[in-house]
Amino acid sequence: MKVAVTGASGQLGRLIALQLLERMPAHDVVLVTRRPHALADLAERGADVRYGDFDEPESLPAAFEGATRVLLISTNNIGERIDQHRAAIGGAAAAGVQHVTYTSLTNPAPGHPAGDVADEHRETEELLMSSGLEWTILRYGAYADLQVPLGVMAVRYGKLVTNAGHGRIAPISRQDCAAAAVAVLTSDGHEGKIYDVTGPEALSQSDIAALVSEVSGRPVQVVPVGDRRLVWGLTRFGAPKPVARAIANLGVATRENYFDLVDPAFEMLTGRRPTPLRDVLVGHRGELLAED
Ligand SMILES: NC(=O)c1ccc[n+]([C@@H]2O[C@H](COP(=O)([O-])OP(=O)(O)OC[C@H]3O[C@@H](n4cnc5c(N)ncnc54)[C@H](OP(=O)(O)O)[C@@H]3O)[C@@H](O)[C@H]2O)c1
Repeated sequence: MKVAVTGASGQLGRLIALQLLERMPAHDVVLVTRRPHALADLAERGADVRYGDFDEPESLPAAFEGATRVLLISTNNIGERIDQHRAAIGGAAAAGVQHVTYTSLTNPAPGHPAGDVADEHRETEELLMSSGLEWTILRYGAYADLQVPLGVMAVRYGKLVTNAGHGRIAPISRQDCAAAAVAVLTSDGHEGKIYDVTGPEALSQSDIAALVSEVSGRPVQVVPVGDRRLVWGLTRFGAPKPVARAIANLGVATRENYFDLVDPAFEMLTGRRPTPLRDVLVGHRGELLAED
């Protein structure tokens, strides 16, 4: 059985590729990417690295040819992802793929404050469910790894500025997200399932500030701000306005409890507990303490 992974040179894609190569014969691992040169090391290990770009739908049937299962990693092109993901699903169907697994987001409900960030996941889920292909959806919680650069800023300024109120998230490491995907791709019985892949605990911004402080040994104080004030502050720090707004909207979604979910799916899929945020931060302690 051949398994194809799209976006294989991305941060999540590469982790999945490496874990698949531990579990399957390399020639059955198809790595689809816009940047085959970035996966030259995995091609050398025998992986079947192929060019594929969702913006060039004609590239996709050949990219997926011979694969039984495809993992569709959502792209990072917010605002363009419906067309891109539609092309990916169409390409998989045209190539005769049986089963597509999609990387979605916790609770992509209608009316989500994060707008396109969540809406595009919901619409892709719907496209996949109505595609006639077998499907599985992995709804990932917030990447724990993203708390590292935020933690760096918090340690540097002694402040964690947030509009998320008392809302909680259940961060999960990319490495664990990869493990859940690999479990689905390499075992049976996941057709028509939606899995909430979350970290082991729901944490407020105060909880996260306390963890960053404990791991770094530096004081970190939570500074609650309103949505507009956060956008203003982020743009002053150089963030483009759309990015600042997107971050603030994620804060609103957190405050309104869209991400307050801890689910046992990860442990059920992998047979182990997901990595706590504290351990992820400990693994990056040097970065937390690095001076700019
Ligand atoms: N849960 C969370 O907290 C969270 C946070 C941020 C993002 N995400 C989502 O998770 C995805 C993977 O995260 P990551 O950290 O690995 O992101 P990343 O390193 O920025 O990777 C971006 C991904 O998008 C793919 N891509 C971009 N344009 C494409 C196109 N035209 N056709 C095919 N693939 C395209 C890239 O594939 P190639 O470069 O190999 O072609 C790559 O896999 C993101 O793209 C985003 O949808 C989740």
